Amino acid sequence: MSRMLRKLVALVLFIAGFSSTVGSQTQSVDSEGHQWWQHAVFYEIYPRSFMDSNNDGIGDLNGISSKLDYLKSLGIDAIWITPCYPSPQVDFGYDVSDYENIDPMYGTLADFDRLQQQAKTHSIRIIMDFVMNHSSDQHPWFIDSRSSRTSAKRDWYMWHDGKGSAAPNNWVSTFGGSAWTMDFKTGQYYYHYFYPQQPDLNWRNPAVHDAMFDVTRWWYKRGVAGFRLDAVDTLFEDPELRDNPVLPGLNKYGDPNEQDLYNTKLPEVHAVLRDLRKVADENNAVLIGETWTKDVNELKQYYGEHSDELQMPMDFLFTKVDRLSPPEFRRQIAAVDSAGGWPVFVLSNHDIVRSYVRYGDGKNNQAIAKLMASLYLTLRGTPIMYYGEEIGMENNDPLRKEDVKDPIGRVGWPQEKGRDGERTPMQWNDSPNAGFTRGTPWLPVPLSYKTVNVASELKDPSSTLNVYRNLLALRHQNRALLDGDYVALNENDANVLSYLRRYKNEAVLVVLNMSSQPQEVSFDLAPQGFPAKSAHTLLTTMSGESKAGSLSHLSLEPFSVYIGAVSK
Ligand code: GLC
Ligand code: CA
Repeated sequence: MSRMLRKLVALVLFIAGFSSTVGSQTQSVDSEGHQWWQHAVFYEIYPRSFMDSNNDGIGDLNGISSKLDYLKSLGIDAIWITPCYPSPQVDFGYDVSDYENIDPMYGTLADFDRLQQQAKTHSIRIIMDFVMNHSSDQHPWFIDSRSSRTSAKRDWYMWHDGKGSAAPNNWVSTFGGSAWTMDFKTGQYYYHYFYPQQPDLNWRNPAVHDAMFDVTRWWYKRGVAGFRLDAVDTLFEDPELRDNPVLPGLNKYGDPNEQDLYNTKLPEVHAVLRDLRKVADENNAVLIGETWTKDVNELKQYYGEHSDELQMPMDFLFTKVDRLSPPEFRRQIAAVDSAGGWPVFVLSNHDIVRSYVRYGDGKNNQAIAKLMASLYLTLRGTPIMYYGEEIGMENNDPLRKEDVKDPIGRVGWPQEKGRDGERTPMQWNDSPNAGFTRGTPWLPVPLSYKTVNVASELKDPSSTLNVYRNLLALRHQNRALLDGDYVALNENDANVLSYLRRYKNEAVLVVLNMSSQPQEVSFDLAPQGFPAKSAHTLLTTMSGESKAGSLSHLSLEPFSVYIGAVSK
């Protein structure tokens, strides 16, 4: 071979090698470069409450494995499992004492591997929860750290001297009380944004950074498809420990209100997110952020200036729209839609009162649950469902302080009842404890389980569950719903929220009556390039048979949904 030819061969091999690495990093699912997570429907599982396989009253990994057929037939592509690592369970798993294992209460690593394998055969990906801001105080790292001022891991956490007999500064924990706890053995305070049993890791220490990155690699090797990053806002604190500005009044725990200026959302977090993204890209993985932001500008920053941070920061501003208000939803959807990244919608999760209760009027709750599903499952973006939402599960809040399991509910009672209400067992059927366990469930099942359960709803074609199944089936096969633009329609309508999802020559019209009154609407879609006079019905929750929707005169029942296809 001539030198020239050898050089050419080497160059071709180099390019081939390069493009195959790039390929494995991005693995787009279509010619337009969409990624797997843009077409996937995610589903959050709170493992304590999903399915109990050994009847100890607590859900477990084998329980999840036994429900993969259900999840697949519902239309789920990825499950996010909230922490199932070894933990003293002070914060029900968000206090991790070993990042590379499974808590015996949930099973073993072998159970996890089996779940992973079985999920794979169902084409369901697994997302783990990465609790990166803090560990448990029972983690060997913290046990070492607190053992002496000179211990090897002392600087893995945030130790500081007090100011005289007081804490280093005025920061309060978001779960109540000072964010500083005095450790008498070494005479210094350690910092915790959450419970005292959740000491903050010191992310300025490169050893912490490396150890935590190794954790992500360890799980990627086991086959996980990404992480939901817990409490990303809280990774860094002001090195000078300046006092936070105090605001008027007291919070629900009786502490002074503060602006979390010096202990949340520090810019340093973005460098960590960029590094995590590099490792995620090497593994075709996705990073989802628990991103509590005050506006869309703040949310935007989590995508990264060069789209090199989180692929999926959750838009919690959507959950802050606290009533069925078309103008408010319109505003919020438009804001996140134009933020430049791929929107991520959630209705509720293990920290938020269930959407069934938040939007329900007490009389039409199931209709409203279908309405809300039709909204966030037809928007441009990826939805993350919360287990039980698909059957219209309600909150089951504790009635007495002594029944509360979530510690914040005891500290904040009665103003803050804690998060037990939205974490109750999944309702599978009408047998005792809703088929979740044959033991005593760790949280009580509400009586409504007799009718609100998977088995009963599967039999009823118009149930909330079947509306979810139909919506998800539609979403998976309809190009306009997957990739189409979002175009707001009839923007002055105060009762009916309508929009078009427009993709090339096809479009889907979504019409949501958010009012308790019948409504009449009409659409002129010519300016959007669709002069059609009628739509072909894809899904409706209205009682009457309607195969075609007249665009000049569409009658809507209270809280009803109409979804139809229009073409050029
Ligand atoms: C996140 C979790 C929440 C937990 C907290 C502390 O907000 O979603 O459940 O209590 O972080 O880890
Ligand atoms: Ca169990």
